[in-house]
Amino acid sequence: MTSRRDFMSTVALVTAGVVGHISLPVLADDAPVSPVDIGSIEQYKADGIVDTFVAKHRFFVVTHDKTIRALSSRCTHKNKALKSDGTQLRCPAHGSLFELDGQMTKGPAKIGLPRSKITLDGDTLRVDPSVEFSHQAAAEPESFVKLAE
Ligand code: FES
Repeated sequence: MTSRRDFMSTVALVTAGVVGHISLPVLADDAPVSPVDIGSIEQYKADGIVDTFVAKHRFFVVTHDKTIRALSSRCTHKNKALKSDGTQLRCPAHGSLFELDGQMTKGPAKIGLPRSKITLDGDTLRVDPSVEFSHQAAAEPESFVKLAE
């Protein structure tokens, strides 16, 4: 026979489990979903990695080879936060490396970084993190903005 104390303990554990189960995905998946104006295209003409939007929006703005991309700031291995060393994106968790076009050059990650939709409106660049292209979709027109020659 179950005592009142045992019953209340069981209710408390089940409640904690249910609440924890429901709330964890919400906390873990709080990725932004609204388009973000990231400034004038003039700001991104030089090759390099801009990490201004990482903390709030989870993407790097990377200019490389006259092309601007909004690369995911999360590693494709186990979703850890990537760091910029100025010329590459490095995962401090297990050492994966990604080039400026998002290509994976060192594992254990097995694929390159996805990129968000990026468009040019007048001279303003806009990134939409709710629309993401896989690294394999590198030719997708809205996955990059080309700088004029
Ligand atoms: S999470 Fe990045 S290499 Fe493992």
